[in-house]
Amino acid sequence: MIPVFKPVIDAFMIKAATDALELGWLGMGSYVREFEESLANYFELGPDRALIAVNTCTSALHLALRVAGVGPGDEVITPALNNIGDFQAIGMCGARPVFVDICDDDIGLNPELIERAITPKVKAIIALHYMGVPCRIDAILQIARKHGIRVIEDAAHATGTRVNGRRIGSYGDLSCFSFDAIKTLTCIDGGAVIVPNKKEAEGIYPARLLGMTQPNERLYSNSRAYQFDVLGQGFRYHLANLHASIGLSQLKQLDTFVANRREYSLRYNELLGGIEGLIVPQTDFADASVFHYVIRVTDNRRADLAAFLKSRGIDTGIHWLPGHGFTWLKSCRGANEIPMTDRIGGEILTLPLWSFMPDAVIEKVAGEIRAFFGRPPVVASTRTLDRAQLLSDIKQGNRADYEIPIEGFPGARLRPVTTANPRVDDVARLTAWRNRNHQSFLSEFTATEARTRGWLTGSVTADDSRILFMIEERSGLVLGYVGLAYIDWANSYGEADSVVRGERASAPGIMGAAVKSLMSWGRRELQLRGYGVRVLSDNPALEFYHKQGFREQRRVPLRSVRTADGIVWEETSGIAGEGRELVHMVHVDS
Ligand SMILES: Cc1ncc(COP(=O)(O)O)c(C=O)c1O
Repeated sequence: MIPVFKPVIDAFMIKAATDALELGWLGMGSYVREFEESLANYFELGPDRALIAVNTCTSALHLALRVAGVGPGDEVITPALNNIGDFQAIGMCGARPVFVDICDDDIGLNPELIERAITPKVKAIIALHYMGVPCRIDAILQIARKHGIRVIEDAAHATGTRVNGRRIGSYGDLSCFSFDAIKTLTCIDGGAVIVPNKKEAEGIYPARLLGMTQPNERLYSNSRAYQFDVLGQGFRYHLANLHASIGLSQLKQLDTFVANRREYSLRYNELLGGIEGLIVPQTDFADASVFHYVIRVTDNRRADLAAFLKSRGIDTGIHWLPGHGFTWLKSCRGANEIPMTDRIGGEILTLPLWSFMPDAVIEKVAGEIRAFFGRPPVVASTRTLDRAQLLSDIKQGNRADYEIPIEGFPGARLRPVTTANPRVDDVARLTAWRNRNHQSFLSEFTATEARTRGWLTGSVTADDSRILFMIEERSGLVLGYVGLAYIDWANSYGEADSVVRGERASAPGIMGAAVKSLMSWGRRELQLRGYGVRVLSDNPALEFYHKQGFREQRRVPLRSVRTADGIVWEETSGIAGEGRELVHMVHVDS
């Protein structure tokens, strides 16, 4: 089943979790400080503002509502099409929601309807940026200012969205973010609240940790005080080091997540636009960090479409059932005056969207939806075809003299091995080179020219998902090779073929430059987003890959098996290795 959401759980996240566990301070500590500082930086906060990390966005909303002075008997304006966390946070203050209708286009609060809902009981407005697309926040802030009430931007979906060029959180009043399991940036569970001045932050610090007067400095240094006071009501809302460390690993890739989710949303819009009975998001997602992608299905056909997609192996979601339909909230003010919410609430359907989503999945989802509406199928993405075609053309020798310049080394190049050419001298050099470095390969054998030629033509040039380049100095001297041993087109991921070090190059640094040039070529021409490589633990190339920005994912102990040909090193599942390991490394672009 194609899921609706899929978090990026990668080597960086696993390493981040292990680092935090190895530190041994599991509570709030140094990782939380670093996460708060890095996030504040990412959100481009001015010096007056403060960001406080907490354990969920629901907690962030509760703390923000308290800062806004919301208390028992008060009211808070919110769209009914909002998360239950918002209603509960209002309830935790002893207040009640007041529902105001939403706009047809951005599905955010309609500012024209806000003013008439304001009474002396209303202390705050929650302005939700649905999907990560901004609501009409400037108008809402203006109305709130006029009436002296606070605005809480619910930016749970909108980590990284810009409004008029400014990141949400860097302007306005109070803002809340969610880093729960399925969000664009996940801490598994986590949240943050941004307040416009340091004084309000000082009030939040004790409130997030049971009301205690623990000095932040001490907590942030992985320690705690045993003498403290309790100033008032507080909550157990702090973020733990483990979650902050995971959040930091995600933050490093956030720009990539945001860029590709935006690209996929535009692709959905392109494939699903113009179908009668279906409304795609009415936006070009400019500057938006898209959390989920929501279509609207009119004419009461939502349930039928969802069932049809399920039968085709595609899951969908409804975000959300509007709040005024729940028993608890039926009697809230405004519940009977929100026709747009009623309409949109019955139409919304969330389609699968996640970071690093394969083109083929978007095309499958869109293709099935088109089929449901009796529309012709999607023409498969020309991108994947173009990419595969380019590779095949190069290998067939259809692109005369195709080569990749080695950056920083004028005249040096990566020359592809093609069906027309493994040149005689390439084969001879590769064979000699292989024999000099046999201990750096998983299978050690004596290479012959016949065997090398067989490998090149039978395996390298015939396989759609690999490519090999000779590394040539300006003089024509071949220093070795570098290539992609496997390309996973669906995930835009390439497995780099080991560069074996040890050749005495006349130009120091050329091997590193060759790998970098291959990687940037793959990014540019093949749209690859990440690379992996597997290196023997005693191969000096290990250090070299570290320097290129590859990070260790795991180490697997090896055991040697003698064969008629030589030795083959096999991965073992346990610890019974012979001291040698295979190091799996990854490089994810940020
Ligand atoms: C708009 C919105 N607000 C608040 C929340 C609550 O966030 P959390 O799960 O971090 O408490 C969510 C969660 O999905 C949400 O989508």
